[in-house]
Amino acid sequence: MTNHLTVVKHPLIQHKLTIMREKETSTNSFRRLLREISQLLAYEITREMEMTTKRIETPLCEMDAPTIDGKKLALISILRAGNGLLDGVLELIPAARVGFVGLYRDPETLQPVQYYYKVPQDLGSRLTIALDPMLATGNSSAAAVDLLKKSGATNIRFMCLLAAPEGVARMKEAHPDVPIVTAALDSHLNDHGYIVPGLGDAGDRMFGTK
Ligand code: URA
Repeated sequence: MTNHLTVVKHPLIQHKLTIMREKETSTNSFRRLLREISQLLAYEITREMEMTTKRIETPLCEMDAPTIDGKKLALISILRAGNGLLDGVLELIPAARVGFVGLYRDPETLQPVQYYYKVPQDLGSRLTIALDPMLATGNSSAAAVDLLKKSGATNIRFMCLLAAPEGVARMKEAHPDVPIVTAALDSHLNDHGYIVPGLGDAGDRMFGTK
């Protein structure tokens, strides 16, 4: 991908996102819509994957048919909200390897604190897609990508549902080589680090913890 930021403006994504933003939307609907949007974003983020051909036989003849080149992807869920994107993408790409990065935001400093890290060993040979619905300050996203690079990942993309300009700028400064694919670029962050207009706390809304 050449652009650092891609906002996918497809009507299906935008329509579903509007329902997710509404405060009265149920946990059940929120989760289902996130899963659906994750698959539409996955379509975009994998658009330029390297292809090769393989010789196959249809019932009529032989042909050189297109197939994805090399090893399949690695999907990295940034806990816990990343799991809301993971399920849908895995449904689309069931052979992907999966990793988890556990980071929480210190509510005072808004800085990321790591509590879990387990990723596939061969990240260097896979397209690695980091998943986190909310790119807010960008601190935890940048920290997660730092960890993935330390583990050998060289071809990383970042999928989110909403991005704040502050988070995009932070990622561009820390990881200009990591393209971001999002459903929307919102206005700004509030004093608590929430995206405005946003949708609130994505983890709480998808898991019903508030
Ligand atoms: N994380 C969330 O869940 N929501 C925001 O608005 C920002 C970070």
